[in-house]
Amino acid sequence: MISIPVELKDRSYDVDIESHSLERAGVALASLGSVSRVLLVMDDNVEPLYGERVSSAIVDRGLDLDVVVIPAGEESKSIDVAYSLWEHFLDCGADRHSVAVALGGGVVGDLTGFVAATYQRGIRFYQIPTTLLAQVDSSVGGKTAIDLPKGKNMVGAFYQPSGVMIDPEVLQSLPDDQYRSGLGEVIKYGASLDKTFFETLEKQVEQINARDSDILGKIVAQCCRLKAKIVAEDEKEISGRRAVLNYGHTFGHAIETTLGYGTIPHGFGVSIGSILAARLAARLASKGDKRFNSIDETWINRQIELTQKLHLPAFLADLGRRFGDSPETSPQRLVELMSTDKKTEFGKLNFILPTSLGECVYLRGIAPEDVLAVLT
Ligand code: GLY
Repeated sequence: MISIPVELKDRSYDVDIESHSLERAGVALASLGSVSRVLLVMDDNVEPLYGERVSSAIVDRGLDLDVVVIPAGEESKSIDVAYSLWEHFLDCGADRHSVAVALGGGVVGDLTGFVAATYQRGIRFYQIPTTLLAQVDSSVGGKTAIDLPKGKNMVGAFYQPSGVMIDPEVLQSLPDDQYRSGLGEVIKYGASLDKTFFETLEKQVEQINARDSDILGKIVAQCCRLKAKIVAEDEKEISGRRAVLNYGHTFGHAIETTLGYGTIPHGFGVSIGSILAARLAARLASKGDKRFNSIDETWINRQIELTQKLHLPAFLADLGRRFGDSPETSPQRLVELMSTDKKTEFGKLNFILPTSLGECVYLRGIAPEDVLAVLT
């Protein structure tokens, strides 16, 4: 087992990565101590795959269990579904010693975390992520939320889990697009934070495409290590350090929004957005900003090559090829959307930009003309 500590004083916890660990869910939950009841939340995609295995592991350990199955999809990150979970928790007698467990992807994790953060002013919660995206990103770091009709993740809390258990074997059952989507975040970690990791990914393309569980366990572990370090430095995204986890996301979110959430997997927006961010850095270099001197065509092509070898879209035009219709992604509309992004401050465009392979900076106040230029 690889165990990665997330060091946050009294809110510290471990991310445990081990093949076939779903069977150990009961042991892990019991070890939290004083558990009156386990509230297992999953969606109707995950329930037939892993519901029985995890439920049995919990009951076999002698813990009282209640199971809630919610509809799969982003629509479940709503106040209505949160309300139904609060009611369910109350009806089944959940108290301050109960533990809510999120078994699933980012939607189930974000929703369950938010409900746990607010039910009876906060009960413990535990993450068992089953998508690559959730394993490398959303299950670690305590961002919990539901959506409002006008924006994703608009209501929520920073609320750390009591633990995260990752079984890389579950990645074998992921649909191809969801697997690739997680790889978009994996490349992000290498390109923006860890040169050696990026180079390892370049060498392991074949095993990654074949979903080699051993390699995937190590990849997930490195992503969690990188994320844990940053979360420990800036848990609530105040200093700007945590914002570097959003490399590729400013462009990515705008692309996702203009197409309609759910039209493309999140990681596809991130992979295209990361390359656009690199182009933006190269443009700033060409205009005299020395910080971005290393970001040239060679650097950008290396990122494009890895992206394409992992069968991810590198360009906006690739989306049209993948999804049939030519998507409506006018540069002006994208810039407009970026200006209203949750991460915008004082109306300025802010980006995480690469400075060299494995390094990046958070740059505020970029002129919309420069952004428009890289989109056209
Ligand atoms: N997904 C970015 C973060 O957790 O901060």
